[in-house]
Amino acid sequence: MDKKTIRDIDVAGKTVLVRVDFNVPMKDEGKVITDDNRIVAALPTINYLLEHNPKAVVLFSHLGKIKTEEDKAKNNMAVVAPRLAELLGRDVKFVDATRGPKLEEAVKNAENGQVILVQNTRYEPGETKNDPELGKYWASLGDVFVEDAFGSVHRAHASTVGIPTNLKPAVAGFLLEKEIAYIGKAVSNPDRPLVAILGGSKVSSKIGVIENLLGIADKIIIGGGMMFTFAAAKGHKIGSSLVEEDKIELAKKYIEKGGDKLVLPVDSVVNTAFANEGDIKVVGEDVPDGYMGLDIGPKSVENIKKALEGAKTVIWNGPMGVFEMSNFANGTIEVCKALAALDGANTIIGGGDSAAAVKQLGFADQVSHISTGGGASLEYMEGKVLPGIAAVDDK
Ligand code: 3PG
Repeated sequence: MDKKTIRDIDVAGKTVLVRVDFNVPMKDEGKVITDDNRIVAALPTINYLLEHNPKAVVLFSHLGKIKTEEDKAKNNMAVVAPRLAELLGRDVKFVDATRGPKLEEAVKNAENGQVILVQNTRYEPGETKNDPELGKYWASLGDVFVEDAFGSVHRAHASTVGIPTNLKPAVAGFLLEKEIAYIGKAVSNPDRPLVAILGGSKVSSKIGVIENLLGIADKIIIGGGMMFTFAAAKGHKIGSSLVEEDKIELAKKYIEKGGDKLVLPVDSVVNTAFANEGDIKVVGEDVPDGYMGLDIGPKSVENIKKALEGAKTVIWNGPMGVFEMSNFANGTIEVCKALAALDGANTIIGGGDSAAAVKQLGFADQVSHISTGGGASLEYMEGKVLPGIAAVDDK
């Protein structure tokens, strides 16, 4: 990696500011964390820093999207502190403030590597606007900055870009390094054949990634709801399946450009309603009126398995069907199985829905890497320069 990491700096006696991604899924109005994976993923960096005798490790993260006071109540970072303390096996001081004397005193009085968790950065309206004053203020609290929030590096916010603009050295943590190593290699220097699997509901959310991967991948497999926009582009009937009318012309362009590279579904599992029960059946390329396609069909699964044979790198973003409903999970399960069966391949799951699918279906330990970033992994696969990575010092 051409960026400096925590291995390149000395943190002894220093106040280290770390941007982590503790934007964890929650239930019960923000009282219970339902998946602590992102907290666990931040531990190698935090533990490494603690082993190198800093004065304090100050953790910044956003949690949820904040527009109203109600959003604030539901996205209070306090919920993360006890879980983090448990995982670290040491005390975590939660500061219920994002600026002011409470925060400043806590940082000033910290000693012996005290871990401080700051309240949700998005409580500050200037966070998402990358308010220069805010970035400068937060930067003034520390001696060193560590960027480890891979899930947030596609955001040019005060905590991801403002702090490192004002505080040097600014280096990458181990999670950021690992994500860049896996996803970066897959898109810039992959072991071939490189097969990309793209699913999910909308073509519109995958335009950048389809365009970039059409130029890089040896094969691109399409599934999920967006397959019906491609089916419409080929002139097939799609019943009441999901379709983006304004993207049909674009899908035609991709079909032409992709040629043999593009593996499109040839059948689907349909139902009369968006539900797990009903008149469920397998149909070919045309979906009859009154039916909607909710998963890829068995012939498509076979084609996908063939396309994956011998793959040395696989990038997967977006489920093949509505895997949350058992009757439409088969396509996604079969892709998981096919990936698990590959010999010596680097299999990378983009965050978000595909990561959730792989975990929920029990295949998490059978793939090489599950990204902690949803939007960030997608934008990285699009070949974009991510502002939070750009803000880190070059080697
Ligand atoms: C994510 O969950 O993808 C990241 O934490 C970013 O969250 P955001 O989309 O609210 O910026």
